[in-house]
Amino acid sequence: MKKIIAGNWKMNFSPQEAKQYVEDMSAMIKNVPNHFTDSAGAMLILFTPPYLWDSNLLEHSKQNKIYLGSQNAHWQDRGAFTGELSPQVLKQIGLEWILLGHSERRQWFGETNETAAQRLDRCLSHQLNVVFCIGETLAQRENNEMHEVLTQQLKPCLPSIEKYWGQSTFAIAYEPVWAIGTGKTATPIEAMEAHTFIRSFLTTSIGAGIATRIPLLYGGSVTPDNARSLLHQPEIDGVLVGGASLKAQSFFDIFHSVL
Ligand code: PGA
Repeated sequence: MKKIIAGNWKMNFSPQEAKQYVEDMSAMIKNVPNHFTDSAGAMLILFTPPYLWDSNLLEHSKQNKIYLGSQNAHWQDRGAFTGELSPQVLKQIGLEWILLGHSERRQWFGETNETAAQRLDRCLSHQLNVVFCIGETLAQRENNEMHEVLTQQLKPCLPSIEKYWGQSTFAIAYEPVWAIGTGKTATPIEAMEAHTFIRSFLTTSIGAGIATRIPLLYGGSVTPDNARSLLHQPEIDGVLVGGASLKAQSFFDIFHSVL
């Protein structure tokens, strides 16, 4: 499976900074031969704020095989939903990837397991590719609730995953909340344990045919220093990177550590 290296810019960068970043990144990846083959290598996605998607940046990124994505999308295509983003229009303007259910959306903006699953259903209905985030807090981990939390986060998504399977890519990012932005990365063993649980839950629920083909990303304080050991675990199909994606050089170093 091709590794997915995704950056989450969160609420950072101006149009000028984004342009410079994509130019720098494009120049660096041009020097890496054969990294975009279908069966091997890695793909690059940047989840950015919406005001950065001008047509030049979209075009320039696409030409250089860097995919720009949205950090959110609504469960309806239009209507009275102030501040939200229509999945149908995201598709029309050429975005192919959507990040859903991020813990910051859950923590600060009232996202629930159900609303995240509704957003997923609508995005998949438009053949948008989705990275769907799940993960436990420190208190939940310490109370031995991790498996239950991950199960409850995934359960409402299962019907949509099955219904739209094969029409676009559906990936899961396991992001333990205690590791996000804290500098405390899960060890490769901890990440593997969670990924193995997620894979087996999916296999039991929707069958191995689908479950084994869902890329499972790890996220939470991924840096150029720890990326290699995480990305070379068999159940880790990619990474979702916040802080370390804000410098083109460090995001490139993470990408390069797969190869
Ligand atoms: P971090 O963020 O890499 O800064 O921990 C990850 C994320 O929020 O997706």
